Amino acid sequence: MKLFDVYSLYDIEPVSGRGHHVYTEDGTEYLDLYGGHAVISIGHSHPRYVERVADQLGRLAFYSNSVENSLQQRLADLMGEVSGYDTYQLFLVNSGAEANENAIKLASFVTGRSKILAFRKAFHGRTSVAVAATDNPKIQAPVNKTDNVDFVDLDDIAAARERLATGEYAAVIVEGIQGVGGIRIPSDAFLRELEEAAHKNGTLLILDEIQSGYGRTGRFFAHQHAGVRPDIITMAKGIANGFPMGGVLISPEIEPVKGMLGTTFGGNHLACAAATAVLEVMRDEKLVENAAATGEYLLEELRKIPQLKDVRGRGLMIGFDIDGSASDLRRRLIFEEHVFTGGAGPNTVRLLPPLTVGKKEADQFINSLKKLLS
Ligand SMILES: Cc1ncc(COP(=O)(O)O)c(C=O)c1O
Repeated sequence: MKLFDVYSLYDIEPVSGRGHHVYTEDGTEYLDLYGGHAVISIGHSHPRYVERVADQLGRLAFYSNSVENSLQQRLADLMGEVSGYDTYQLFLVNSGAEANENAIKLASFVTGRSKILAFRKAFHGRTSVAVAATDNPKIQAPVNKTDNVDFVDLDDIAAARERLATGEYAAVIVEGIQGVGGIRIPSDAFLRELEEAAHKNGTLLILDEIQSGYGRTGRFFAHQHAGVRPDIITMAKGIANGFPMGGVLISPEIEPVKGMLGTTFGGNHLACAAATAVLEVMRDEKLVENAAATGEYLLEELRKIPQLKDVRGRGLMIGFDIDGSASDLRRRLIFEEHVFTGGAGPNTVRLLPPLTVGKKEADQFINSLKKLLS
């Protein structure tokens, strides 16, 4: 049987990983500054993570959401403590798109409205409503097309206000930092004004923190830099360090109704064991603080390289542009310098490393870049 060939692949296969490195079969070591699309938060195969997942696998891998599962409550308690959202409610799912799908659906249930406001260059996932709120017609099938989603420019508060004033929108959805869109940071003032305009018009504010959350920007969620408090927050990627999982944080003002949302696999035993280990490691190893410090250093050093344009980011969510092809540079970084990075569009390089990287790895990358760009 052939695989459905939808991915463009680099001809390399990592077969093992440890911390912020991955290894090919012949033992060659590669520095991972991409974390497999921002997924590896606490480092590859962290010993505590491996132990907890293996232990849970030996006990009970799965049972349905029709019986008690205290692992979910333990995870919720820890997440409340670490994120600062202890009064919020947690709904567990399996991926980022599914988290956004449920967030938007919930906003529609709560408000009785069917329209959504989203932002140009956004990426919210590939399921039905999530992809409709994603500003990329190439990944929307005819069945996804809808008049229910409107787009305005990020940071254009006047345009957002004008739309929201119609009182038609169930939710406005915005990424903490646009990731796939090329590391575009909404201004703190914009997020605050958006929150105010949404609430004035009975619209819920959804923060998509799937890529920018979980400590990546030096705060638990990127929107915490702006001091806003969304009604709904979506999470995935780093939440379980590679175990497929997503989550929705829901304001205490929103009342749950039995059967309103549901999933077979969401919040399963293995996923909860993985996600709890992630939060414990993040807390004990101070990885959010490390992301802030290493990110600041890396941004500073990148800004000193004259060939790089518009170096931008927060913490360990960093982007920069080059004159030539980002894909060529990334290929050379892998095969000549043994460093994995990410892309976003033809000229942008995106860095989303495990939150464990430090000054040593930052220096290694800076030296590799200088060598390849000279
Ligand atoms: C901001 C954001 N939202 C949603 C998603 C979709 O997540 P998933 O691929 O887990 O469905 C992504 C994935 O890249 C993302 O970056």
